[in-house]
Amino acid sequence: MIFRQLFDKATSTYTYLLADKQTQKAILIDGVLEHVERDLKLLHELNLKLVYALDTHVHADHITSSGHLRDKTGCKIGLSIHSQVDCADIQLKHDDVLTFGQQQLRILETPGHTHSCLSFLCGKRVFTGDALMIRACGRTDFQQGNADTLYTSVTEKLWTLPDNTQVYPAHDYKGISSSTIGEEKQHNPRLILNREAFIQHMSQLNLPQPKRIHEAVPANMRCGRIES
Ligand code: FE2
Repeated sequence: MIFRQLFDKATSTYTYLLADKQTQKAILIDGVLEHVERDLKLLHELNLKLVYALDTHVHADHITSSGHLRDKTGCKIGLSIHSQVDCADIQLKHDDVLTFGQQQLRILETPGHTHSCLSFLCGKRVFTGDALMIRACGRTDFQQGNADTLYTSVTEKLWTLPDNTQVYPAHDYKGISSSTIGEEKQHNPRLILNREAFIQHMSQLNLPQPKRIHEAVPANMRCGRIES
């Protein structure tokens, strides 16, 4: 298996490239529009055929590269069925499995940061989007976010994965690249709280709106197309 973690400094977003060595079929998770040329070049250099461009959710902080990747590679775009992104080729739901060569990626619905957040399980790695971040989790105050729902997603779905499952989030703001389920169960300061305390904590974050939310969300509903 080929695995790369790519980074966007402006929004601290991680993009992930997974590929099957035998067949060279690849999946890109959470591509960022500004890096579409970087990612196409890497695919070309590694001689990979992109089959799916997936987003863990409709992002509010950056614009997805999925539409551009589809134009250039013919890949299929996949998002949650609940996201109502009409330009997606595949509407993903819980327990769906995507195959790329010899590899499989299982879809886990992990709503709460937004109502349509997905996590992707591939072998011993789980790509958690903004549901579970390293020692943190996504905010729950827009895009139908709900702290109670997020608590259920993490504690009843992600916590059931083996402790040694590697956690790869959509963002990290402190320069840490991965964690494990066991480590987060023990050390995540938000998710070690009980449900009531978690909900209370999330309701008091008082964060400013993401700078690009009014541009990013509508563009992401169109697979990264900016309205002209
Ligand atoms: Fe997000």
